Amino acid sequence: IHVDWDAVTAEKGGFEHFMLKEIHEQPKAYRDTMRGRIDEAGKHVVLPELKLSCEQIKNIRNIQIIACGTAYHAGLVGRHAIEQLVRIPVENDVASEYRYRSPIVTPETLVIVVSQSGETADTLAALREAQRNGAHVLAITNVVGSSIARDADDVIVTLAGPEIAVASTKAYTSQLIAFYLFALYLAEVRGSQTPEVISQVIAAMQALPEQLESMLAKPEAIKAYAEQISKHEHLFFIGRGLDYAVVQEGSLKLKEISYIHSEAYAAGELKHGTLALIEDGIPVIALATQDAVLEKTVSNIKEVGARGADIMAITHEEHVTGLLKSVNQVFAIPKTLPLLTPALSVVPLQLLSYYASLARGNDVDKPRNLAKSVTVE
Ligand code: G6P
Repeated sequence: IHVDWDAVTAEKGGFEHFMLKEIHEQPKAYRDTMRGRIDEAGKHVVLPELKLSCEQIKNIRNIQIIACGTAYHAGLVGRHAIEQLVRIPVENDVASEYRYRSPIVTPETLVIVVSQSGETADTLAALREAQRNGAHVLAITNVVGSSIARDADDVIVTLAGPEIAVASTKAYTSQLIAFYLFALYLAEVRGSQTPEVISQVIAAMQALPEQLESMLAKPEAIKAYAEQISKHEHLFFIGRGLDYAVVQEGSLKLKEISYIHSEAYAAGELKHGTLALIEDGIPVIALATQDAVLEKTVSNIKEVGARGADIMAITHEEHVTGLLKSVNQVFAIPKTLPLLTPALSVVPLQLLSYYASLARGNDVDKPRNLAKSVTVE
């Protein structure tokens, strides 16, 4: 027998593309990123690698999260986690903008830079600018020994393993895990949450890998929907709160590899202009996982439905029947705490862009015009 077997095929571990392999590696990436950072009783986050002292943590007045691309989107979720659990004001910036807006930094400012590669030139330059202004800089990166890891004052390494596909998946979700861990750590040091809340969040985090595995076992419905949208040139994503943060990543992913033009909108903002673009048959993907704003999202869904949009919603099982009155299709995701939902809800969006790219015959792992790591400003 002749087996056609080269090194690249071997590295893909039986998957057709690196991207699909990396999507499937996410449960492992979650476990690896959490391992050793949660005590055995599941009550505390431990981050012995941090130089940041308890004294410094207690003095933090504001946090700035800086990154590019997908890492920037992880930072949007990071902001929710920190503001909700720690009640410190957080700003998000794309690195290429940060340096030029005269950011207000004091010795009580913590700057968090996020970078899978640790080599992105814009992020590195922003890190240096923040340090010049006296900030303590924490890097969340996937590459130990990268330029960003070396220059930062503190590093939390995500343990996603090497990411080959240009479109980032497991690095993004591991960055979310790193943010949740860090926010819990800050919350404990600053006493902003009770021990009960902290262990409740930890327990829910520990359930994520298995929940994710159950989702990855059933890709068929998303695949069929991806084939449907692959025939379109434009579509919209809507969501509120954390769902808005996640659809921004979903929209970027879709553009990167399927070349379908899409925009992610805060669901309540669509009516202030962009609703003019909604016409008969245009696909709208609504992420509706945040119970606190679900009713509001549903009314935005009805607004686009009334203009003829073909709506697909992603929500929890308990809301499927209700939502089916207003949308054409619904996908259910497992239930976790609202704050942790992005670690699950982004996965159908990753699969959607993967299968849409595949349906269009694109080079999934190496999309046109893009590089895995951008080392020029
Ligand atoms: C490039 C990649 C993106 C990535 C961004 C930031 O543009 O194509 O996928 O999100 O850089 O990369 P980093 O390594 O800093 O996370």
